[in-house]
Amino acid sequence: MGVELVRELKARGYEVMAWDRAQVDITDRSAVENALAHFDAQVVLNAAAYNQVDVAEKEPQAAFLVNALAVRNLALACRQIDAQLVHFSTDYVFDGEARHPYVEDDPTHPLGAYAVSKLAGELYAQAYLDRALIVRTSGVYGPGGLSTARGNFVELMLRLAQSSNPIKVVEDHVASPSFAPALASRTIDLLDRGKTGVFHIGGGAAISWFEFSRLIFQAAGLKPSLHATNEREYRTPARRPRYSALSNAKMERNGLDPMPTLPEALAAYFAARGK
Ligand SMILES: NC(=O)c1ccc[n+]([C@@H]2O[C@H](COP(=O)([O-])OP(=O)(O)OC[C@H]3O[C@@H](n4cnc5c(N)ncnc54)[C@H](OP(=O)(O)O)[C@@H]3O)[C@@H](O)[C@H]2O)c1
Repeated sequence: MGVELVRELKARGYEVMAWDRAQVDITDRSAVENALAHFDAQVVLNAAAYNQVDVAEKEPQAAFLVNALAVRNLALACRQIDAQLVHFSTDYVFDGEARHPYVEDDPTHPLGAYAVSKLAGELYAQAYLDRALIVRTSGVYGPGGLSTARGNFVELMLRLAQSSNPIKVVEDHVASPSFAPALASRTIDLLDRGKTGVFHIGGGAAISWFEFSRLIFQAAGLKPSLHATNEREYRTPARRPRYSALSNAKMERNGLDPMPTLPEALAAYFAARGK
């Protein structure tokens, strides 16, 4: 996400200073304060996170340090320099029991260490700042993922398709996969309009991971051996919400353009990937 945010901010004429973990470790409070003190920022966007949902069950402290306590560092530093914090959170703050796309006011109920740490990050941002903007998103994929170690779901599917082994993807978990460049641009739209509080920006469609992989292979022109599986067959250390689609209604009520449809977003992804 960080890559896409920087690209979009620069395209809109913002002066941007960007750091990676080697330059500023956000768990180090003085490193955060020093970095921001040298740059009279009006806005601080935090796209850093500990995102290893399953590993977090073994090392919850590591997840809490980055996703919660480091957000406190950022919030305190923003308060010192009177900057606005834009922070990203997740659909995993919900338990997945709903059968409608989650709205911002739905009660949160995280199911594991990663999810608890992300909700704590939201709370820290809100505890120290009156005008933080918190954007919850879901299943992010974008060209930025081509250059990171973690990659993204689309690249994972393409990698799996290179072997002749059958590919199994869960069909009983539904989310709203979000195209990172569109998410970055909607986030900056909110910022430009002076919005604060919690906003959901998902991909705009509630879709199972199995159906999403079908769309990916369609867009890529591939026909691998793809099979549906389910939570019972495909066990993971962390519990995940079975249904975590996000409603973009609040964002749209505030005048933002709807997110591109999944076929449009995947076409844009593959066009950017081909370049
Ligand atoms: N990806 C998704 O599907 C998804 C879904 C819902 C919400 N989100 C949220 O969206 C935001 C962006 O996620 P993403 O997918 O862009 O994540 P990502 O690709 O995993 O990138 C996270 C970045 O944070 C950096 N980082 C980790 N610990 C750090 C630290 N202590 N100090 C400074 N940087 C640190 C990582 O650096 P290293 O590479 O060096 O570790 C990495 O560059 C996060 O808040 C995430 O929780 C993501």
